[in-house]
Amino acid sequence: MKNLTFLSTMLFFAVILFSAFSIDSSHKESAKKSSLDKKVDLLLAQMTLEEKIGQMTQADIDALKGHYEDIEKYSLGSILCGGNSEIADISAKGWADFYDMLQSHAVKSRLKIPMIYGVDAVHGHNNVTGAVIFPQNIGLGATRNAKLVEKAARVTAEEVAATGMDWAFSPCIAVARNERWGRTYESFGEDPELAKSLGAAQVKGFQGKKLSDKTSILACAKHFLGDGGTNNGKDQGNTEVDEPTLRKLHLPGYIAAIKAGAKTIMVSYNSWNGTKMHGNKHLLTDVLKGELNFKGILVSDWAAIDQLESDYKSDIEKSINAGLDMIMIPNPPGTKNNYVEFITLLKELVNENEVPLSRIDDAVRRILRVKFEMNIFANPFTNRNLMPTFGSKEHRQVARECVRQSLVLLKNENKTLPISKKVKHIVLAGTSADDIGNQCGGWTIDWQGKSGNTISGGTTVLQAVKNAVSKNTVVTYSKDGSEVKGADVVLVVVGETPYAEMMGDREDLSLSKEDVAVIENVKKSGKPYVVVLFSGRPMIVEPLLKDAKAFVAAWLPGSEGTGITDVLFGDFNFTGKLGHSWPKTMEQIPINVGDKNYDPLFSYGFGLKY
Ligand code: GLC
Repeated sequence: MKNLTFLSTMLFFAVILFSAFSIDSSHKESAKKSSLDKKVDLLLAQMTLEEKIGQMTQADIDALKGHYEDIEKYSLGSILCGGNSEIADISAKGWADFYDMLQSHAVKSRLKIPMIYGVDAVHGHNNVTGAVIFPQNIGLGATRNAKLVEKAARVTAEEVAATGMDWAFSPCIAVARNERWGRTYESFGEDPELAKSLGAAQVKGFQGKKLSDKTSILACAKHFLGDGGTNNGKDQGNTEVDEPTLRKLHLPGYIAAIKAGAKTIMVSYNSWNGTKMHGNKHLLTDVLKGELNFKGILVSDWAAIDQLESDYKSDIEKSINAGLDMIMIPNPPGTKNNYVEFITLLKELVNENEVPLSRIDDAVRRILRVKFEMNIFANPFTNRNLMPTFGSKEHRQVARECVRQSLVLLKNENKTLPISKKVKHIVLAGTSADDIGNQCGGWTIDWQGKSGNTISGGTTVLQAVKNAVSKNTVVTYSKDGSEVKGADVVLVVVGETPYAEMMGDREDLSLSKEDVAVIENVKKSGKPYVVVLFSGRPMIVEPLLKDAKAFVAAWLPGSEGTGITDVLFGDFNFTGKLGHSWPKTMEQIPINVGDKNYDPLFSYGFGLKY
């Protein structure tokens, strides 16, 4: 009995203690949060209307060329480099020096508010020579490995931070439903489950444990909402579905990204049932900021507000009132719809009560809150201690692991794979066997990417094969597949050449006639051959499949071609699974898991192993 009394007394005190502690910590928590908000309110109260609007302005570096003092003059809140905006020295040091020059202007503004710099680091820090280039998201989707995807984003964040930059316009959490779409490869796949798990993983990888850590950068979930669901896969087209379907397919990725702490979201060019997303107040404000309680920055896409109305002032009124907080503006002073015009016109709209000052203050609060959380006021310049790991072996190992796990084995007759490293004579055929540009795809150095040896530090399949096989093995390369005499096996590497966005929209996903010719040449020889396909999406391959002994979907694997030979020579097994249903014909597209009369060539989730 005595014990019982003692125990219950102890329990009572434990409960008292715990509740006291939890009240205190929630007070601390709210006190801490309110100290952040206090800092924001304090700074906001000092700002002029023009300075507030300056913070809502994101200007491209090409628009600023020759006008860098405008950063200080207008207290510009953000700067970006679009896909094709380059500087003379695109090495990591070159970009870091450039970043510091821009920032030196920003911190000279009246209130010394640092700018935040955004870049499309969508598969590594892909604008910088020597950076590690990861598989595009369609390949990461095939890994189904959230931990590995988070690790890849962490490495990318370290390389972005090493150049001073603060913000990756990534993850793209589009749910690509029609493979005619040129941005299919930027999506993890056709199932919202992938957008949820892998999008959240990339957010965590980019933003790290604390936003103020020196290698943490802002993530940007994009493009809100329904970018992957447009009619016929037309880029920037119209997504025609009812709201329940829109929510079921395209919203889950954002709910997960917000839960993972995403600090920015980019709005999409597409329309939903005929209304442009950049003017959709219901989805941007009521749903995203209201229902989903998104507290971060809502940024526009590249000159996307220009598509809304007949004149720029109406574009600005509609988009800001719909809920946009920051506008991406690529146009220099003196040209149409430029960043100075944006500031002037938005100031007029506020003074004419067309845009409430409360909307401006909400936008600027969101921007300042993120900047305080990043602690960028204390550390506005590049941390040069991060440079040594840029493009390092350790970083490349992470990308190599991603390549290995992204490969999907679609066919393997008579155990053709794995190939022995002691094979006497292996011939490589096809343009892409020795083309790092094709291996990386779009968004690599150039917006559209480029065939050829465009980046430094990568390994093509040909180079990887030479490094993998025994010293007695003969390795030859016949680009058109005509010289395969004496080969024990031929490795044919074919597929798409680089493209990005609307430039990749295609009505016909058959292989090019050059690729078909290579395969025909090799087939004529009677030699056993393996096809490795580099593509941003499933392609129409059935005619070619029957004669190939083995067939591997490698997607757009990036710089580490060695990840491919690791698996082809059997050091590692295949683990990849399709993130898209693989169609037999173009007529079948769109074809997605869950469809009625579902009859793809290979189902969603398909992938063979050794
Ligand atoms: C592009 C893309 C977007 C990218 C932005 C900045 O048009 O739609 O994904 O982040 O512009 O380059």
